Amino acid sequence: MKICCIGAGYVGGPTMAMIAKQCPEISVHVVDLNQSRIDAWNSDELPVYEPGLYEVVREARGRNLTFSTNVDQAIAEADMIFIAVNTPTKHFGMGAGRAANLEFIEKCARQIAKVSEGHKIVVEKSTLPVRTAEAVKRILSSSSNGATFDVLSNPEFLAEGTAIEDLLDPDRVLIGGESQAAVKALADVYGQWVAREKILTTNLWSSELSKLTANAFLAQRVSSINAISALCEETEADIDEVSRAIGTDSRIGPKFLKASVGFGGSCFQKDILNLVYLCEHFGLREVADYWEQVVIMNDYQKRRFAERICRTMFNTVSDKKIAIWGFAFKKDTNDTRESAAIYVCRDLLRERARLVIYDPKVSKETIVSELLTALSDLSGTISETDRELVQSNVTVVNDAYDAANNAHAIAVLTEWDEFRELDYERIYDTMQKPAFVYDGRNILDRQKLTKIGFEIFAIGKSN
Ligand code: UDX
Ligand code: ADP
Repeated sequence: MKICCIGAGYVGGPTMAMIAKQCPEISVHVVDLNQSRIDAWNSDELPVYEPGLYEVVREARGRNLTFSTNVDQAIAEADMIFIAVNTPTKHFGMGAGRAANLEFIEKCARQIAKVSEGHKIVVEKSTLPVRTAEAVKRILSSSSNGATFDVLSNPEFLAEGTAIEDLLDPDRVLIGGESQAAVKALADVYGQWVAREKILTTNLWSSELSKLTANAFLAQRVSSINAISALCEETEADIDEVSRAIGTDSRIGPKFLKASVGFGGSCFQKDILNLVYLCEHFGLREVADYWEQVVIMNDYQKRRFAERICRTMFNTVSDKKIAIWGFAFKKDTNDTRESAAIYVCRDLLRERARLVIYDPKVSKETIVSELLTALSDLSGTISETDRELVQSNVTVVNDAYDAANNAHAIAVLTEWDEFRELDYERIYDTMQKPAFVYDGRNILDRQKLTKIGFEIFAIGKSN
């Protein structure tokens, strides 16, 4: 059997590497239009940082795992084609800022229709609005070579930073489709390492909608606990104690109750906005408003964090040096998409703070590019003043100590483990006084830091 995957990103790359590792008899060909991304997949510096990923890729690459830009050839040879391209929020035209941009999905479907012969199974891996498979099926049915297709929905539930664990031992694998034979063919692939009872099958539309719903529920939990964190800061209740207390209720459960500076990542916001757009489309105003509030609360949490920094630093951060620790949207990934750090930094830059940023896995180019985008309008235009602001007020360094040196404040924006184990006496000595710490992830030892002399502010903790 031959599998092709279109899209060598955070989803396509790790997922296909795992299939290739677990199914040595299946030939897996991952293709992408982006030559430099493919070159990176073929090198020792993978484009995606994920613990354990390199070992999996190294085992399968050259055996039954190939990365290339030969899109047509890979499609033509495959029995099963996964579509794992990006579906970002549209930033133009109808539904701008809400709807998913399905341009890349549609282009893939057209390419598959053009070069396919015989029968193929097409698998939607990307997260898509419910009923996208309808459009995919219609485009595929226009194939001029007489090719026939079954379309399946097989959303990916891996979380970045734990992708390999999640792929090895998923809570469930979801397959939606009409053709029993096609569903079985895909279930047989996962069945090589996933227990059969964990492979759920549904109709196409339930599968598409379940992915959006799962992400909406997860994001809702984070926004719910973050909403309570604001109240904690006013009332001397402690958000970590509240989380523990409610999480022991087996109906609520302990996971995804960690208050933070706000959720980020390529999925949560995009998928909720997508859900909101769909509900609006079907005239479900109340349902749309209900879910939109999860994103509104998240924006509030990010804004509130930057405002708290300004307020507590005597109402001005202008020309003050602030060390930004962490820029990725969570630990153990180099992904910065929708990271809370982007928006906190943007707000601080607008207050004319000088930022010295350190992240163990994110490059300077990525940080600068994210900040320029955040300061641009929807059409991508940025004012000369804002561009200069990024040039003059942002420095990226290779070490947390360097970032903190001579700083007025430290803001922890990603929960990298290394931040827990630094020499805080040394850091305190090198900082301006009072030395402020804003822990946006509640990972630091407040008592210890307070004893050293720091003024520490954390999420959901009153001072
Ligand atoms: C998410 C879903 O978990 C995954 O199933 C889906 O396939 C893709 O979207 P991901 O975005 O990679 O995965 O990471 P996740 O662990 O869900 O974290 C998302 C954001 O929420 C991060 O910014 C994280 O820091 C934040 N978060 C998560 C919290 O602030 N508190 C929590 O308790 C959990
Ligand atoms: P995700 O997190 O969903 O995996 P990424 O943006 O990391 O999203 O990856 C999607 C990949 O899909 C990108 O590398 C992009 O170049 C690729 N891609 C988009 N459209 C096409 C296409 N028509 N053919 C091949 N690759 C594509």
